[in-house]
Amino acid sequence: MKHISFIMDGNGRWAEQRNLPRLSGHEMGAKALVKALTDLHNLNVECASFYAFSTDNDKRNSQEVSNILGVIAYFLDNDIKALAKELDLQVRIIGDLKRLPEKLVDIICQLNSKCINNKGMKVLLAIGYGGDIEICNAFDILLKKRMLFKDTTPLTPNELFSALYTANVPNPDIVIRYGGYSRLSNFMPLQTAYSELFFLDALWPDYDIEKVKEIINKFYTIKRNFGGTDA
Ligand code: IPE
Ligand code: IPE
Ligand code: MG
Repeated sequence: MKHISFIMDGNGRWAEQRNLPRLSGHEMGAKALVKALTDLHNLNVECASFYAFSTDNDKRNSQEVSNILGVIAYFLDNDIKALAKELDLQVRIIGDLKRLPEKLVDIICQLNSKCINNKGMKVLLAIGYGGDIEICNAFDILLKKRMLFKDTTPLTPNELFSALYTANVPNPDIVIRYGGYSRLSNFMPLQTAYSELFFLDALWPDYDIEKVKEIINKFYTIKRNFGGTDA
């Protein structure tokens, strides 16, 4: 398995169903992520990505946004940092860091530098991530480069992909969305063009490796054509 992605939705509903504050759902969601990282490492997955906080999640009330970002900061600085060391994980945060609080950005930079020589599973954590913003950012990078080199040749897909946050990472083979909705909510719109999509009713804090193994087994039975013939 080269790349498996998780859209970690349903934290708020998980808490509400138990008459708990939504914050508890986000904390349980972070714990589920730690569990998933260990499981996927044990399955020898090459790369795993997780959608944790989108640019569109800024629309939520400020208390909810600060609760979510607080949980993320705590987990990155503690559990994820420790696990990255233990399992040699190559953790990379993808997203628009300009939108995140300074304290969280400091934690992200520290984590990035701690993981720089790691050689194990690649882990992409999408925080302050939006697929549309990622593409705009890629265009800005390419435009500046092309102006500098006075390059007016037509843009190629390879060039475009090389300027995305996911440069040098294979596109997701599988995307699993938790929480009952069948949509991608602005997650890697270009990279998921040929991904196999799985939508689960389970809420993310109820993550269970057995279900993921079932999906991976199903994935291996699917013939992928990438636009070629189905013969
Ligand atoms: C996913 O859980 C986490 C984030 C989007 C940050 P939600 O907070 O969206 O939970 P639901 O979908 O409201 O249950
Ligand atoms: C998707 O969940 C984003 C993350 C899990 C980070 P949302 O709860 O934001 O998605 P919508 O708004 O229901 O599409
Ligand atoms: Mg949601």
